[in-house]
Amino acid sequence: MELSLNVNNEEWALDVAPADVLLDVLRERVGTKSPKIGCERGDCGSCTILIDGRSVRSCLVLAVEAEGHEITTVEGIGADHLSELQNLFISNNSFQCGFCAPGIVLSATELLARNPSPSRHDVQEALSGNLCRCTGYEPIIEAVLAAGERNEEVSA
Ligand code: FES
Ligand code: FES
Repeated sequence: MELSLNVNNEEWALDVAPADVLLDVLRERVGTKSPKIGCERGDCGSCTILIDGRSVRSCLVLAVEAEGHEITTVEGIGADHLSELQNLFISNNSFQCGFCAPGIVLSATELLARNPSPSRHDVQEALSGNLCRCTGYEPIIEAVLAAGERNEEVSA
């Protein structure tokens, strides 16, 4: 079947099967490799993308369900220059192997869009579905909290 997908503000016309999973279509057909294949059952968060600004596990979504919605992967965040959050992840040495990073960037981006100065608990809750095997989470949480503090300074 024919499918139109909007990925990072680019329109794609694709021929897909009804049961094709969005994660696979993004990686294999659109060529966006940042959503990672992890558990493929909704547990690890490595395949996280944004659909209409909300974080979603793309391994649990059929490609056909995404038609008519705006899909954002980490390739679409900071394409021209890195976002402040991405720079804070770098300056905090938040990631090691980086496998979890695209999903965490997107989950944290969603959090900061709806809650510009989150508490530590808010950050922990927002990232609770994104597993990281390397860092112990602390440098990730610190970077998101720092982004929240900067948002607070700007709005003060
Ligand atoms: S690959 Fe989708 S949640 Fe693990
Ligand atoms: S940095 Fe390796 S899984 Fe998070």
